[in-house]
Amino acid sequence: MIEIRELRRDFGGIRALAGVDLRVEAGERRAVIGPNGAGKTTLFNVLTGELPATGGTMRLGGTNLDSLTTWQRARLGLARMYQRNELFNPLSARENVLLSITSLGGAYRPLRSPTSAEVAGAEAVLAQVGLEGRGAVPARALSHGERRQLELALALARRPRVLLLDEPTAGMSPAETQRIAALIAALDRSLTLLIVEHDMDVVFRLADRLTVLHEGRAIAEGTPDEIRSDRQVHDVYLGKVVES
Ligand SMILES: Nc1ncnc2c1ncn2[C@@H]1O[C@H](COP(=O)(O)OP(=O)(O)O)[C@@H](O)[C@H]1O
Ligand SMILES: [Mg+2]
Repeated sequence: MIEIRELRRDFGGIRALAGVDLRVEAGERRAVIGPNGAGKTTLFNVLTGELPATGGTMRLGGTNLDSLTTWQRARLGLARMYQRNELFNPLSARENVLLSITSLGGAYRPLRSPTSAEVAGAEAVLAQVGLEGRGAVPARALSHGERRQLELALALARRPRVLLLDEPTAGMSPAETQRIAALIAALDRSLTLLIVEHDMDVVFRLADRLTVLHEGRAIAEGTPDEIRSDRQVHDVYLGKVVES
């Protein structure tokens, strides 16, 4: 589903991605872990097209992405839950999801005239992320955890084939973390997930396989058991996480 070869991205003299190879099968749940500055967010930015690559090549479901815009990649089924806030605060949770659904057709339509199928679709997505009964609440009045659930709903509303999650539990309480991890675990198994996450309990619970990024390179890849027992991974990352 995702095939990345020799992907490079420089920022001036900084090699954020120094030749990354990554292959993710359809329906796989892949975690990308590594220290701060390893290049994880840059990998997502280049994959979505928000940042141009300096070199290398990317394919999604066999289609070459290299010359496609962010919008064209989204139309191919690539969606992202942002690490930052993308909600429309004055709008209700349901209206936020409806905007995301109606944008699928290629252009935003006025919120006043959603079809009944679109309203039903919005309610279904809200239920999927644990926000049933919260559709009428303005986004600004939701708790931090609920706002992240709504951000997940916005990504799911686009019916993606591949979903990128950048630190979905960032800033959450332990209870909120458990809740969003359970919601992600319950997503359709046909959806391909690429997850950047610092909470190793969440990572080892969700991921089928892990890729370890270090200084812009994929230095290891394997199952949770293989990665846990990899000495080099301990030296650059896991050892520090466990001790801190
Ligand atoms: N927009 C940018 N401009 C300049 N340098 C950047 C930019 N984005 C990321 N970097 C640099 O690229 C490297 C990788 O960053 P990032 O992808 O954010 O790492 P991670 O998400 O793994 O913490 C870091 O050295 C970071 O400072
Ligand atoms: Mg990051």
